[in-house]
Amino acid sequence: MHIANASVLDLKRRISEPLVIAIDGPAASGKGTLARRLADYFHLPHLDTGLTYRAVAHMLIDKGWSLDDEAHAIEAARQVDLANLNKHALSAHRVGEAASRVAIIPELRRILVEKQRAFARNPAGAVLDGRDIGTVVCPDADVKLYVTASAEVRAMRRLRDIENRGGSAQLAGILADIRKRDERDTGRADSPLRPAADAHLLDTSEMSIEAAFQAARGIVDDTLAKRNAS
Ligand code: DC
Repeated sequence: MHIANASVLDLKRRISEPLVIAIDGPAASGKGTLARRLADYFHLPHLDTGLTYRAVAHMLIDKGWSLDDEAHAIEAARQVDLANLNKHALSAHRVGEAASRVAIIPELRRILVEKQRAFARNPAGAVLDGRDIGTVVCPDADVKLYVTASAEVRAMRRLRDIENRGGSAQLAGILADIRKRDERDTGRADSPLRPAADAHLLDTSEMSIEAAFQAARGIVDDTLAKRNAS
């Protein structure tokens, strides 16, 4: 069943203050799809913060600079322009891997987090997804979701994506990559991936995208109802 976007009139009635929705979760958890659906439904701008780390990694690869070259990585972070993130160019697997490696640099994170916070200050609010949105970027977000799924399910979904685009890959290789990325993203010292204490956990291992969206929409609607009642 498809749920239409909430009408603008209905939303204006329910959302009189900014609504910031923070979505975190591991690679291939489906958080991006969920974030886009929620942004669309609640008429809010959406930022996939992973693209900002990918943009830095892409610039380093493009210029032939090492991923361990902190000075150049920081310079690249300063140049990231949120209005100019080319999702298509940044979607390559190796760019995601490289992004996960440069994302351990604290000064680089500080620069990108500032840009992400500026985005979240949009007067109507915003939906941001990433690894540290509920814990670091927007600790005061109105709604925090932590979207996860087992590594096996995430690997299977990624394999299906690749096959749907006409490619081929081995499930075992994808699963190993996902585990390695999880380890790096949860194990780093600065802003590791973890659910905020007040995040709603959404395990989508056995859920369709539609079911996950409806569950998330219900959580946001409950928050709005409580906010409006107080
Ligand atoms: O969500 P993604 O696969 O596009 O993210 C790529 C990498 O960027 C991820 O492995 C770690 C890093 N990242 C981060 O450290 N913090 C974020 N808020 C988003 C992404």
